[in-house]
Amino acid sequence: MVREWDPRTASSAEIASLLDTLNAVLAADLPQDPPWRESSMREYLAEVMPGERRISWVAQAEPATDGSPGAILGHVHVLLLGDIGVLEVLVHPSARRTGLGRDLVLTAARRVYQEGFQSIGVEVVGDTPAVAFYESLGFSKEYVETRSVLDLSGVDWAELAEMATGISAGYHLQFHPGGPPDELIEAYARAKAEVRDVEDGELRPSSYDPERLRDSLDCLHRRGMKPYIVLALHEQTGEVAGLTEVVVPVQHPTRADQYDTIVVQDHRGYGIDRAIKARMLMELRSAEAELTEVQTWNAQANEAMLKVNAELGYRPDREWCEYSIDVAELVHRLDAGR
Ligand SMILES: CC(C)(COP(=O)(O)OP(=O)(O)OC[C@H]1O[C@@H](n2cnc3c(N)ncnc32)[C@H](O)[C@@H]1OP(=O)(O)O)[C@@H](O)C(=O)NCCC(=O)NCCS
Repeated sequence: MVREWDPRTASSAEIASLLDTLNAVLAADLPQDPPWRESSMREYLAEVMPGERRISWVAQAEPATDGSPGAILGHVHVLLLGDIGVLEVLVHPSARRTGLGRDLVLTAARRVYQEGFQSIGVEVVGDTPAVAFYESLGFSKEYVETRSVLDLSGVDWAELAEMATGISAGYHLQFHPGGPPDELIEAYARAKAEVRDVEDGELRPSSYDPERLRDSLDCLHRRGMKPYIVLALHEQTGEVAGLTEVVVPVQHPTRADQYDTIVVQDHRGYGIDRAIKARMLMELRSAEAELTEVQTWNAQANEAMLKVNAELGYRPDREWCEYSIDVAELVHRLDAGR
């Protein structure tokens, strides 16, 4: 049975059951990824940016003979932003290939259509059943990135310390746990607006204006995801010449996520990319005791960024793809197949 579900009011048992399903999915599809923890799981599922909405549904097994509620075997949510609905679907490995995934997508797609949105996008991890699943539903591949993972136990810290200081004169680095200080927000947003040479996929939108940036940092904090930032400041102008962002989610604090790394066009060629990333790793090593790995996503065409990441010790892990489909076409196709 699929029903709409609100993580803000869900019972703790439901949140725990959904977490069990997520961890069973990870164990089956991405066994090298760390399991998630319960900390701030409700907030992770419930909190959104101003102006965005996330609508969720669950598929729950029948109650047990003693009357206790059945496990949550499937989950779908869609994040409505701009003119697109971004979908995430999970089906417990024990409940797969029974049509549940298709039902969950149809439920969400109908709502996205009713709400007047044009298309649905989804992130699909390479070498997992999701590839065949979304292709069978008619989704097409729009964009491919490579996820890479850095194992901190293999890092040569002395070499890294050298990289962190190998920056041309006229720049200095700053480390800001929690986000950029308010007096730098505008310069920070300018740097992000000028260069969109991001490490992110299009489904993880960046924030280019100061207000949006504040909202986005605030939203990360509410979801239990702690941002860390290293900036390269251009001393002559006070401008942000480069920045790198890493987020440590309380749900999986052993593996951090590298978000945007940007070097503003005029400031390229001065060793900023390498230095800010190296400094970030050194800071994280002391700030986050549990951290053992950092993961990052790069466009395959972004050779300069891939080269720096390889020098730092990142190893390519798997493809991470964005698929999309026209909503009306999806609903029609799924309804026709019933
Ligand atoms: C992708 C996923 C949602 C599919 O759920 P499901 O309930 O098994 O899907 P369905 O039973 O509705 O399958 C529909 C169709 O998709 C295709 N499909 C699904 N899984 C497939 C597989 N493993 N191999 C080949 N085709 C597959 C088939 O065409 C299937 O139809 P069929 O069974 O009649 O042949 C599920 O595997 C899942 O939760 N994966 C994890 C997704 C995710 O986001 N992970 C993130 C962390 S890895």
